[in-house]
Amino acid sequence: MDRIRIVGGNPLNGVIPISGAKNAALPLMIASLLTDRTVTLENLPRLADVSLLVRILSNHGVDYSIDGRRQGEDPDSGQTVHMTAREIVDTTAPYDLVSRMRASFWVLAPLLARIGEARVSLPGGCAIGTRPVDLLLMAMERLGASIDIDAGYVVAKAPKGLRGAEIVFPKVTVGGTHVALMAAALAEGTTVLHNAAREPEIGDLAELLVKMGARIRGAGSSVIEIDGVARLGGAKHRVLPDRIETGTYAMAAAMTGGDVLLQGACAEHLQAALDALVQAGAQVESTPDGVRVMRNGGPIRPVDIVTAPFPGFPTDLQAQFMALMTRAQGVSRITEKIFENRFMHVQELARFGAHIRLEGDSAIVEGVPVLKGAPVMATDLRASVSLVIAALAADGESMIQRVYHLDRGFEALERKLSRCGADVTRISSGG
Ligand code: EPZ
Repeated sequence: MDRIRIVGGNPLNGVIPISGAKNAALPLMIASLLTDRTVTLENLPRLADVSLLVRILSNHGVDYSIDGRRQGEDPDSGQTVHMTAREIVDTTAPYDLVSRMRASFWVLAPLLARIGEARVSLPGGCAIGTRPVDLLLMAMERLGASIDIDAGYVVAKAPKGLRGAEIVFPKVTVGGTHVALMAAALAEGTTVLHNAAREPEIGDLAELLVKMGARIRGAGSSVIEIDGVARLGGAKHRVLPDRIETGTYAMAAAMTGGDVLLQGACAEHLQAALDALVQAGAQVESTPDGVRVMRNGGPIRPVDIVTAPFPGFPTDLQAQFMALMTRAQGVSRITEKIFENRFMHVQELARFGAHIRLEGDSAIVEGVPVLKGAPVMATDLRASVSLVIAALAADGESMIQRVYHLDRGFEALERKLSRCGADVTRISSGG
């Protein structure tokens, strides 16, 4: 298993190109199951989760091809892929694949909408909490599907097709909104989603679906209306920039006292996190090329945050912000409201000498003047990168184990950081 060695202390200075968003790429790829025509996605990030989803989709019958590199193109720029689900050959998504990536459960919706049946393994728990799928199943049932659970599989059927309906989500759910959008696009009649998620990735999926011929109004707001159509066609779409990657490097720049241009990033997609960074003492500028984040010399100030659905502070940046707060001059409170167990990074951050105490759904972080490099272990994707941020500012060497978690969601992490002056090396299992 690969490890990452970081010698801390260098400020990050330079340009970091922001990749296509993982959490947009996954539902966009899954949407290719809705049509027998080709869906072309540009700016698709090179990530382990994307490769795994390709395997899952090809099992259902999706052909996949990648464009080669073009003259003058940066080797780290996103890929252009073409996906065609001419025929669905298998409606089962097996346990050994779905259990490795939760979002693959979402194939349920397009399979059901296009073929009238799907058999998808329950995703099970994961390192950040129980994460049920009851609301996703409720949405499919509202659209007329019958749902049974058989030997760990969700068996969904709608032999006469799905019918439009009013769907009221009692809680904001990104996955629930994605599956409802995909299924309703091919349902007969009108569907209205109430309390829909407003994350930019929802808007990106809706944009692709509209290009494919879907009739959708209100994506990006909490009420979305969809008039179902009989068929969807092919389309070409560029994956939006990754707001979580943007926020992560923004926090790393603030942590190390650097000056970084996050190229291609869109500030509105993470305004709550950028506002918190400004309160913490960073300067943030939106430029035509992206977002510039600096902290020159001044102290890191303590800031309290509470995670919330978009446009609130994203849970996917909570661990990274906590890493920053470990060096603040004072005490901050970080409250996690989306997932009940998303504090796995606390004990690992403590290895650097951070002072953090848990109180229910909050972490109380008492800033320390110095962090010391340490051996640490990555637990989940975002928790792992919070350890990278701490290590970049810690005195001496840190060794991060189990970096496959990072590879799931951060494209070319070592290269992007090294180019900005960080001392980061990947040690592959053979090395
Ligand atoms: C998406 O997960 C993201 N994943 C997560 O990012 C992100 O943390 C999360 O949204 C919240 O922003 C992808 O986009 C691939 P939810 P999702 O349904 O859709 C509860 C990362 O690191 N809930 O919005 O699974 C749930 O338990 C990942 O990239 C139900 O109770 O999250 C949670 O408390 C981690 N029943 C809340 O809703 C359900 O049926 C929000 O979850 C579904 C969800």
